Amino acid sequence: MKVLGIETSCDETAVCLIEAEGDFGSTFKCTVLGNALLSQAETHRPYGGVFPNLAKREHSKNLVPILHTALQQHIHEERSNTQLPRVEILKILEREQGLFEQLIDFLETYSKPDIDCIAVTVGPGLEPALWVGVNLARALSTVWDVPIVGVNHMEGHIAISMMDIVSGFMKSQYRDFASPDIVMRGSIARFQFPALALLISGGHTELVFMQKFGQYEFVGQTRDDAVGEAFDKVARLLQLPYPGGPEIEKLAEEARYRGLVCDISLPRPMQHDTTYDFSFSGLKTAVRRIVELQRSISEPLSENIKRCIAREFEDAVTDVLVAKTLRAIETYGTRTLIVGGGVSANTHIRSELSRQLLTVSCQLLMCPPELATDNALMIALAGYFHAAEGDFIDPATLRANGNLELAKQR
Ligand code: KG4
Ligand code: ZN
Repeated sequence: MKVLGIETSCDETAVCLIEAEGDFGSTFKCTVLGNALLSQAETHRPYGGVFPNLAKREHSKNLVPILHTALQQHIHEERSNTQLPRVEILKILEREQGLFEQLIDFLETYSKPDIDCIAVTVGPGLEPALWVGVNLARALSTVWDVPIVGVNHMEGHIAISMMDIVSGFMKSQYRDFASPDIVMRGSIARFQFPALALLISGGHTELVFMQKFGQYEFVGQTRDDAVGEAFDKVARLLQLPYPGGPEIEKLAEEARYRGLVCDISLPRPMQHDTTYDFSFSGLKTAVRRIVELQRSISEPLSENIKRCIAREFEDAVTDVLVAKTLRAIETYGTRTLIVGGGVSANTHIRSELSRQLLTVSCQLLMCPPELATDNALMIALAGYFHAAEGDFIDPATLRANGNLELAKQR
């Protein structure tokens, strides 16, 4: 089955075409046939975070070129004699400025690709941004007569972390419009259910119990900021550019590498309480106080103070995430931990989880760091498993839902 994945939930515009076969288990195989992703990070950088309506405008502008790039080896120029249902397409795309003209041009120029279904992120995320992908999927489904699967973005992060990936994406093509080669093959890693999933991204921090793929119960959640949000806010306090996660990671690594001796300590919020919930906003406030104190007694923050704060912050976050996760693994008796979301690209968090999981005989599944942040492969993968079950949705009733929940409360 060939699945076209579309992702526009935040500030990445991404399209990926996969060919997958088999069921959820040892028979599953997947090949990436085309992939393109454009990050809007540069656009949002002056604002220090993602601006929803700007994200929507950028998705509308870039989604058709990204679609074209992802599909370029699978479409050919062909002036068709059949009339496009322009009025219907216009109605679907009336709120997506600029998308209509580009899409009509694309559809009039190229043949229909050989695809079986479209998988699109319906939530959670920034609702104006989500609608762009959803409406493109609805328009393509109408013209090409292929069914749609609505995908939960967080399930996409889980799906990609369950893969055993043979060869990774090449970073250079992954970030821009360059030609997509066939660069990845995957199957499902061998592991046992029930599993625990630790989802750490810009909008979410969740521990989820999984009896099987598609069945989720919340074990714990953040009560305030998501962990990625905390990385981004602390980075802003340290005058580092958006997105802050990789910037903090870089400074923290420099502090460790140089063996900096620092007199800074941050709290480990909720590390030892009895719940599996998290709280990161206090950590950000503690960093703000240190920064303000430093400013009141001296000049601007020195590079070494920034490095010290970054390391202590990363250590504090890691301690809390690891402690809670280990305790949940023991309580729920899970033999597999699946870690997903953009923050799981973090080297220190990855290595601490790997190291400490050895003590509880639990298998750790994580995707390569370059696939941990948002992409459309994860959406195509999760979409495939639903499509294989015939879990399609009527394009007329398909809606974006910024607050879509993955799980029910346990
Ligand atoms: O999953 P993702 O790409 O988007 C959402 O679904 O939110 O996650 C983005 C988040 C951002 O907050 C970003 O700062 C963080 O992931 N992030 C990192 C790293 N790379 C990205 N955080 C810590 N260390 C990293 N290396
Ligand atoms: Zn994400």
